[in-house]
Amino acid sequence: MATEQAATAAEEVEAAAAVVEVVVVVVVVVVVAVAAMLREIHSSSNTGWTKVTSFHITMATVTRVPFPNPISIATHKCSLVHSISRSRVPEFSVILSLKAKNLRRFSVVAMADLSKSTVLVTGAGGRTGQIVYKKLKERSDQYAARGLVRTQESKEKINGADDVYIGDIRTAESIAPAIQGIDALIILTSAVPKMKPGFDPAKGGRPEFYFEDGTYPEQVDWIGQKNQIDSAKAAGVKQIVLVGSMGGTDPNHPLNSLGNGNILVWKRKAEQYLAESGIPYTIIRAGGLQDKEGGLRELLVGKDDELLKTETRTIARADVAEVCIQALNFEEAKFKAFDLASKPEGTGTATKDFKALFSQITTRF
Ligand SMILES: NC(=O)c1ccc[n+]([C@@H]2O[C@H](COP(=O)([O-])OP(=O)(O)OC[C@H]3O[C@@H](n4cnc5c(N)ncnc54)[C@H](OP(=O)(O)O)[C@@H]3O)[C@@H](O)[C@H]2O)c1
Repeated sequence: MATEQAATAAEEVEAAAAVVEVVVVVVVVVVVAVAAMLREIHSSSNTGWTKVTSFHITMATVTRVPFPNPISIATHKCSLVHSISRSRVPEFSVILSLKAKNLRRFSVVAMADLSKSTVLVTGAGGRTGQIVYKKLKERSDQYAARGLVRTQESKEKINGADDVYIGDIRTAESIAPAIQGIDALIILTSAVPKMKPGFDPAKGGRPEFYFEDGTYPEQVDWIGQKNQIDSAKAAGVKQIVLVGSMGGTDPNHPLNSLGNGNILVWKRKAEQYLAESGIPYTIIRAGGLQDKEGGLRELLVGKDDELLKTETRTIARADVAEVCIQALNFEEAKFKAFDLASKPEGTGTATKDFKALFSQITTRF
């Protein structure tokens, strides 16, 4: 009789332990759901929620069979540990662990990282790159900005802080420190042709261009971009935004003969490489860039250079910069490649809803 009662009691304890375990799992699932919801709310509304930049279930182990097992009460101890970790993820982190000594060991750590997203812009000394860098710095509640420039002079030009790295994209090792630990990469590097001396606009005609040794599009727009994509992939970067150029569908486009560089061909090759990399990407093929104020025009997205055949085929660098950053906020921008231009100022309605803009894009390449 006494033995039967003891066995029943042991079973009840086992059942209670199982219930506790289920409760723990439910709590973790709720944590997961809330984190995912916060992230979703942020990315869909963009109304200033703290950004959930990453979510991890870092550990979920069951080392023993988790449900009842005949065993004595004496050897069975349960402990539930709930702690808020401040070391790695200050805003939101829950660690749950249930241990049943000699019976089972179940532990789950769920962490929703509400900290800022670390974003590197390369070509940060360039005309569009420096606008991106500045905008990221201005949104320091959302982003930890990093820049990559080629020279110390470029760094000084943009008043770069310690978060501006100096490196040459043609060499993977030289960009590794800048890429390590980032969440997203915005590529704004490009080969830059130089004008041959002696051109006199007063005499008419067209200027001639050339590329200096080592700075040809093959080296910068292909090898350099490829190095960035490979390094980002190795570092676990979650999204890459690459700015390219319209005109790439036409191998005979005049830009290709500039300095015999085939610049659009090499840019396109890098775009293809990115699209096949497996990393979530956004490829922005900009129209003619203008140094004008941003946020004033209706932006237009297109595909296959169709916009080039229209009157609306230019865009302000500041608008391109904004689209680069907005692409980080919306799932609708991922795995997309598109042409980008704008209506002239004063016609149409200035674009504010970037989710709607990205939703129009149907092309993956
Ligand atoms: N110009 C247009 O009308 C037009 C039209 C459509 C698309 N786009 C494309 O839009 C993008 C942005 O254009 P943008 O005019 O703003 O750019 P940009 O001013 O020409 O800047 C290019 C940047 O790339 C950097 N760079 C070049 N080689 C490098 C290397 N080996 N290592 C590290 N950095 C290197 C340069 O660094 P330094 O500052 O040290 O030189 C420069 O900051 C480019 O991809 C461009 O091709 C341009």
